[in-house]
Amino acid sequence: MDVTGPLPSYDNSGSHANSGFVYVMAALAALTGLLFGYDTGVISGALPFVTSDFNLSTGAKEIVTSAVLAGAVIGALFSGRVTDAIGRRNSILIIALIFTAGALGAGFAPTVGWLIAARVIIGLAIGVGSYVGPLYISEVSPAEVRGRLVTFNQLAITGGILVAYLADYALADFGGWRWMFGVAVIPSLILLAGMFFMPESPRWLLKQGRTAEARSVLSRTQSPDLILAEMNAIRESEYEQKGNWRDLFRGGPRRALIIGVGLAIFQQITGINTVIYYAPTIFQSAGFGSAQNSILPAVIIGIVNFAMTIVALPLPDRVGRRPLLLIGLIGQFVGLVALGIVFLSSNISGTLGWLAVLGMVVYVGFFAIALGPVFWLLISEIYPLRVRGLGASVATVANWGSNLVVSLTFLSLLNLIGTSFTFWLFAVMCIFSWIFTYYLVPETKGRTLEQIEAEERAGFSRIK
Ligand code: BGC
Repeated sequence: MDVTGPLPSYDNSGSHANSGFVYVMAALAALTGLLFGYDTGVISGALPFVTSDFNLSTGAKEIVTSAVLAGAVIGALFSGRVTDAIGRRNSILIIALIFTAGALGAGFAPTVGWLIAARVIIGLAIGVGSYVGPLYISEVSPAEVRGRLVTFNQLAITGGILVAYLADYALADFGGWRWMFGVAVIPSLILLAGMFFMPESPRWLLKQGRTAEARSVLSRTQSPDLILAEMNAIRESEYEQKGNWRDLFRGGPRRALIIGVGLAIFQQITGINTVIYYAPTIFQSAGFGSAQNSILPAVIIGIVNFAMTIVALPLPDRVGRRPLLLIGLIGQFVGLVALGIVFLSSNISGTLGWLAVLGMVVYVGFFAIALGPVFWLLISEIYPLRVRGLGASVATVANWGSNLVVSLTFLSLLNLIGTSFTFWLFAVMCIFSWIFTYYLVPETKGRTLEQIEAEERAGFSRIK
């Protein structure tokens, strides 16, 4: 297959008949991202209240925060197999049910053990959702809007985090951590109802040999003259070969695996979730004020995270994935170094407190335009179809696994080496991530998934 230029069928950007329908599909699937964001972000404002209700130690606080991540690791572990076996759509329907049950379980939790169990169950759904949401979106999207639509999922994640912070802030008045966890029932039910009316991914249908159904779905997402080209392109990507673990560790896929897992780990060990989950806890212990006052900086960070993700929407398809990552990592580095300097002072109140907020804003803003969305985008597109499910789920597991390790150790790390050195440690990780990206991450802008696959067979020789 010629991979040096765009396929003729993709020349007429956005002009296919039913692009509106593709957006509806993407928006609904992105609700998995909203729930991912809500259910992970909500702990931030809930933790100070859960801590005082159940009298939690540092270790217990880390466990309550990380329970959802442990569940997500397990969910992500099985996500590839489950979604390959029962389909992308059915998987989303099932996790919508789990999200609903988990929200009720956490909201009504009579003991901390119960709360931890409910959060692990929610985590299972997040783990599968964080994998299948972007996968479904990338599989139903035409190449010219794929970057934008998959990034849409990150917008949903950050939107979920922001809504969680706002809910935390609004409900803090009467110490309502139960409500904070419970309102996630609403988006869960919307996801369940909406997805019920959406079709299965045409790529998955073709892989199952259900050609007629695949054609009928494509007729709703592509204009008629492009359907055949799209089906042939998918076929050419060797969908008939069922990939296994051995395939993943050979040649092109192995390179993709290293990139996917590497970026997954770097996305987390550069420290993003220490800010996302623990900002109020950090501010409260640094003398910023009451539990509710310390949620306010988190709300600001949530707004910046969300707004910068909107700015990021067109960037992967315009600027390209690689330049974005390289610029974003430099910004994160600067934010972290500044944070470390501010936290050298023992009492972060008044102006210093707001300088700390500014450092976090810079750090989170640059994450939001680059490593945040681009990681999820790249793992949905760098693997050949026959190992795409497997490869993306390994990267997802690595992401949740490293998130778990960082979140489980962060408060202890603060006690051990202090806030400044902790942030500087994350800054050093930004340097490693930059070097990794510079030497290993390929550009995938404007290529069809099938072209990327062909380039991969050639060893990603044309990186830029
Ligand atoms: C990361 C999450 C993080 C979120 C913050 C996502 O891309 O995977 O771990 O909480 O971005 O916006």
